[in-house]
Order: sequence, then C-alpha cells, then structure tokens
Amino acid sequence: MGAVARKQLPLRPAGPDTVDALLAWYDEERRDLPWRAKPGKRTNAYRVWLSEIMLQQTTVKAVIPFYLKFLARWPNITALAEAPLDDVLAAWAGLGYYSRARNLHQCAQVVVRDYAGKFPRTAAELQKLPGIGPYTAAAIAAIAFQEPATPVDGNIERVVARLFAVRQPLPAAKSELKRLAATLTPENRPGDFAQAMMDLGAGICTPRRPSCLVCPVQSDCAAAAQGIEEQLPLRGVRAERPLRVGFAFVALREDGCVLLRRRPDAGLLGGMLEVPSTEWIEMLPPPKQALRAAPLRADWWLVPGTVVHTFTHFRLELVVYRALVPSDASLTFWAEPDRCRWVPRRELSSSALPSVMRKVLAHGLKEQ
Ligand code: ADE
Repeated sequence: MGAVARKQLPLRPAGPDTVDALLAWYDEERRDLPWRAKPGKRTNAYRVWLSEIMLQQTTVKAVIPFYLKFLARWPNITALAEAPLDDVLAAWAGLGYYSRARNLHQCAQVVVRDYAGKFPRTAAELQKLPGIGPYTAAAIAAIAFQEPATPVDGNIERVVARLFAVRQPLPAAKSELKRLAATLTPENRPGDFAQAMMDLGAGICTPRRPSCLVCPVQSDCAAAAQGIEEQLPLRGVRAERPLRVGFAFVALREDGCVLLRRRPDAGLLGGMLEVPSTEWIEMLPPPKQALRAAPLRADWWLVPGTVVHTFTHFRLELVVYRALVPSDASLTFWAEPDRCRWVPRRELSSSALPSVMRKVLAHGLKEQ
C-alpha cells in the first residue's frame, strides 16, 4: 500500500445483488408519481404511454399537471383517439414540442384502429408507433408489460458509467453503457428496475455532488470506490461552438403576467414558449433597430449583464430589455399577436419553458 490510503474497490462488478439492493430501496423510497401504479396494483399501459410521451424532453414537475388534466379529460385511449386534434393541441399548450401532441393523437388512433385499442406489448412493436423511439418503447415495454427492456437516457447513462467506472467518453460510450445497463436488467420486475434507475439518477446519483452516503448501491459502485464519481461520465472534447447573439424582451404587466410567445412548430425548440426575442444571429444589431422588434410599444429598459446559454451546436448570448406595462396595454403593436399570450408569474415554473428562457426570465425579472 502506498502512502495514500485507497478506498476499497468493490469485490465484484455490479450485478444481481446490486439490482436487489436497488429494488429494495425503490420499494421504500420511490417517488410517488401519478402515473405509477401503487405497489401490488396493475399498471395501465395507456397511463404509462401518456406519461412517457409527456416526459420526453420535459421535467417531471412540469409534466404532472398536464398529465392529470389529460387523464381527467381523456381517461382511456379510445377517448383520446376520438378527440378532435385541435382540442388535444390546445390542452398541450405549455408543454412545448407540438409534434409530440400530434404524434400522441395519431398514435392513439393507430392503436384503436389497428390494435383494437390495446398497445402492443414488446419494445420492438411499440417502436413502430408514431412518437415512440427506442427509449420510450423500452420504458413502456418494461413498465407496462414487464419485458426486460432497458430504457437508457442521460440519467441512466450517468448511473451506469459510475457503477462500472466507464472511462470512455460520451457519446462514444453510449453503446457500451446500453450494453452494461442491459446486463443489470432483471427478468423479474424490469419496470421497477427502470424506474428505480430513473429515481436514483434524479435524486441521488446527480450530475454534481452525488449523495453517495445515502446511495443504496454505493458499495457496488466502482467509481465511488475509486473516488472518481463526480468526474464520470467523461465527455469528449467538442469543436468550439459558434456564437449567436440577440435581444430578448421581458414584458411584465402590472397584474403580474409576463408576455410569452409560442415558437414556430418546426426547428429548434419547436412549438415551445419563449420570451419574445429578435432573431439569433452573428452580430448584434444597434439597439434602436432591435427595439423595433419589441413585441409591443413600451418603455424598454436595458437589464445589465447578458444571458448565456449553450446549445448543442452554438452558444447564445442574449441582451435583455424589460418593461412594465399597464394591465390594459394596447395589443395593437404586437408582432405575431396570435402566437403571444400573457402568463401569470406563478404559472411560469410549471410551464414547459426551455431552460434558456427560464434564464432570460430570471435575469429580466430580478429585482434591480
Ligand atoms: N422520466 C422518463 N420516464 C420517467 C418515469 N416513468 N418516471 C420518472 N421519470 C421519468
């Protein structure tokens, strides 16, 4: 032994005992989410499917009110298939990515028409349906039908990379992480295993400062044994991202509502809500020109500082203007008024705003 004491390596790699420990933890600590069947109760494929579609690219917290609203209005797949598409799109407003709502509706119709209203029971068949990719197919097959399929998203990649101390960087490591996750997936309770991995990734094995002391599988975790858990998963170095810039306009009405706009359905953040902004381009236009793009006529004040956000393919820097407008503010100066709406501030946290827009709102609404 050298001068530096080493933590003990786990005696063997994560395996069936790890899964047992994880499932025992899940039985005690699972999140109480409305789409989850109570222990010992049968799962309902429609509910599992509805929740998994909503959870694509949206947080659990934002999804819950929408899920409950949809379930109350369309309690089963036939009801949803028979609903007018426009009603479904309107109920989806605020969740973003409207193509998901279109696919949801179309999928309901296909399942009613071609499968007598019963979802197919395997990931391979589920993946043929509109809006269902490999992750969602595996999640539904495991949770609703007990197929030992393994949904692997970014959270589960992180958990697996740490459990097995995988040092290969992402994204190259993806297929190896999938393979390792599949080696853990049990024949018995694969749905609970998938959801236990989700809960572990969301609450304990977090990207920064994981809570290893309360982790049910810490003793089997190769990364924790080597003290490298916070460094994993590694990411390959990317080419420098180009910079785009723009102005954003935070309009706060005296009654506490904020003006938001729906983005076009196609393209980046398609159909999601945003703070109205200029185009995102390479060079900032002069402020006078930018103010012509403001959504309504008001006294616009520059908020000191900028908002920086990194997308996959570029870095964005937004300069923010804000204005306080009277409750009867004229609507006649809006650009694209049909895409704009006033949203009460207390509803912002549950609206499906992309994180870049949450940053813009935090910046634009902070006390000065
Ligand atoms: N994210 C995606 N699917 C989920 C689920 N079933 N439970 C919690 N988080 C999820």
